[in-house]
Amino acid sequence: MSCQDSFRRSVHYLRISVTDRCNERCLYCFPREFSGWREQEDLLSYEEILATVAVAVDLGFTDFRITGGEPLVRPGVPHLVREIVRTPGVRSVKLSSNGTRLAGLAVPLREAGLAGINISLDALDPKRYYEITGGHLAPVLEGIEAIRGLDFPSIKLNAVLLRHRNEDQIDPLLAFAAERQLILRFIELMPVTSREVLRPENFLPASEVRQKLESQDRLEPIEGSLGFGPARYFRMERRGVTVGFIGALSDLHFCEQCNKMRLTADGRLRPCLGNQMEVDLRPFLRPAIDREGLRAAFLDTLRRKPLEHSFRDYYEPERAMTALGG
Ligand code: 5AD
Ligand code: SF4
Repeated sequence: MSCQDSFRRSVHYLRISVTDRCNERCLYCFPREFSGWREQEDLLSYEEILATVAVAVDLGFTDFRITGGEPLVRPGVPHLVREIVRTPGVRSVKLSSNGTRLAGLAVPLREAGLAGINISLDALDPKRYYEITGGHLAPVLEGIEAIRGLDFPSIKLNAVLLRHRNEDQIDPLLAFAAERQLILRFIELMPVTSREVLRPENFLPASEVRQKLESQDRLEPIEGSLGFGPARYFRMERRGVTVGFIGALSDLHFCEQCNKMRLTADGRLRPCLGNQMEVDLRPFLRPAIDREGLRAAFLDTLRRKPLEHSFRDYYEPERAMTALGG
């Protein structure tokens, strides 16, 4: 088996976007020149998503994450979670959310068998939070409290690093996570929606934040994996908190262990976030489900999965991050 084959065989994690809509408008993600959302009929139905999941499971996929836009703006997500959890061969179903609608949905999601939630939290100061996301912090904090009481096996906070907008929030975020014993991950900006994020006035390398924290505390590397992503985790000894760093640009080994693909809300399989290539699954889902066709399309996409992203080359944003599922 060549090293490329073994790389592709280790792909077992599918991120499923259920909508490109979002009730927030984060600076780094939301399309500035708004070009209109996908129409409802362009989105895969839950039935079509479940048919895709069944084929993915047959091919060795075991772990799934529901994403958006903001997944919880689409009605019926707990039902979808329950159905995926019930599919034989599925090991885990998790969700990424901006947290704004979690308080009301935490219980049905937990009852549906959801194993974990990642919540975006870029700032703890309401004004800063609003400047970055265009939304309000209070419901997100309520959402976090709601899920903390429900015994989810995994809860993580995601903070996207923005040079002048939340550098001063790093310390309060660490204190917040430490007090609640939640894992906090710092995510470096990626030029998915716009290349502007790479300008020095916006871009704050994860490696810089890590070095700064290392100068204040001992960062004990955590071996093994705390998730299926490319984050590197450390235990901050004095602060008593686990931090992760996701540095798509500053971490030169970022793509080496890549184990995932994405399904966009409009039914395209995208093998790499940082590469424009997509394979349209809709011809195998509509007007009727063609399992053999879906299987062949999946295998073809896996075969063509790039060995690394193209963000360091001149990657031209074409589809907004909201459409690709983070
Ligand atoms: N760069 C880095 N992270 C991003 N996210 C959304 N857009 C970007 C971007 N351009 C993050 C969200 C969320 C996760 C799913 O992806 O903040 O935490
Ligand atoms: Fe919405 Fe998440 Fe994008 Fe922010 S990062 S606009 S919360 S989808």
